[in-house]
Amino acid sequence: MLVLGIETSCDETSVSVVGEKNGKPEILSNIISSQVPLHAKWGGVVPNLAAREHLKNLPLIIRKALEESGKKLEEIGLIAVTKGPGLIPALLVGTGAAKTLSYISKKPLIGIHHIEGHIYSSLIGKDPKSVRFPILCLVISGGHTQLVLMEKHFEYEIIGETQDDAVGEAFDKVARILGLGYPGGPAISKEAEEAASQKISGEPPSLPRPMINSGDLNFSFSGLKTAVLYLTKDRPALLDEGQRKIVAHEFQEAVSEVLEKKTLEAVRRFSPKTVLLSGGVSANRRIRERLASSLKESFPDVDYLIPDIRLTGDNAAMIATAGLLRLKLSDRIGNLDDNWKNLETKADLGLNR
Ligand code: KG4
Ligand code: ZN
Repeated sequence: MLVLGIETSCDETSVSVVGEKNGKPEILSNIISSQVPLHAKWGGVVPNLAAREHLKNLPLIIRKALEESGKKLEEIGLIAVTKGPGLIPALLVGTGAAKTLSYISKKPLIGIHHIEGHIYSSLIGKDPKSVRFPILCLVISGGHTQLVLMEKHFEYEIIGETQDDAVGEAFDKVARILGLGYPGGPAISKEAEEAASQKISGEPPSLPRPMINSGDLNFSFSGLKTAVLYLTKDRPALLDEGQRKIVAHEFQEAVSEVLEKKTLEAVRRFSPKTVLLSGGVSANRRIRERLASSLKESFPDVDYLIPDIRLTGDNAAMIATAGLLRLKLSDRIGNLDDNWKNLETKADLGLNR
């Protein structure tokens, strides 16, 4: 079975062809066209500009993804598209294209929840039947920060989530405060890695670990961003090129400590057999490694699944993989609305704003 995936929920236009090798999802092509330079000058993603770019690029990228995979549209068995959540104008371009392709090729179409895609990115190249349930997923991206419990494939229960900003959003906002540009995640982690060699005059900066002792599994990151703002207002020297590395480092430590502590607490409470990390922020080496070493130390019998670093950001291979595995493992593909169950939150609907 070959699946053509389309992802246009934010500022990446991506199309992928995913097949199977020995029962494991295998990427035949995964074209990702980033719009970062276009949005950088606005300091964040502009929804209408993103939609316009998707509209311009999608036909070319569909052709390129098919070409690179060596397959023809007639050979595709299923079309999978990100149905949401995401920027509505951007999503409409992808879903419109997917519906058209499905109509002309007479192939079935499935809409995939973006977070389901991120979760299944960690299963690319792995035998989905060998994964041990329950799985505890820590999903960290620009729009989401969630602890999700899965008793079996495609069944989700959100057991904790951010009460305000997502982790990626906090990285991006703090990068802006520190004058590091957009997107902030990669810039902050680079600065933080360089910080070890820096000397700082005066007190080293110290930031709060929000909600670390809240007793529940929820998160909050907007106060941390404000703490960086006040810290640098009080001590403007911390914005100097050398010194801001230390702030970036302390911010990354604060975030990774909270993520680690809450995830370990969730492991204690729910006894999963696997912990799965995913989402754009899972590209962060410190977060990946910290979670790996603390799990190894405290829960050596728990498996740890992370996506290939190239598949952490938004991409269509994760959407195609979720579609493929739904087709293979689920008997409910016929109901295209089914896969929204239990993953949709008030925040996804814009009800928190
Ligand atoms: O999953 P993703 O590509 O898009 C959404 O679904 O939101 O995540 C994007 C987020 C951005 O906020 C970006 O700054 C962050 O992931 N990010 C990182 C790193 N690479 C990307 N955050 C921290 N460290 C990184 N290395
Ligand atoms: Zn994403």
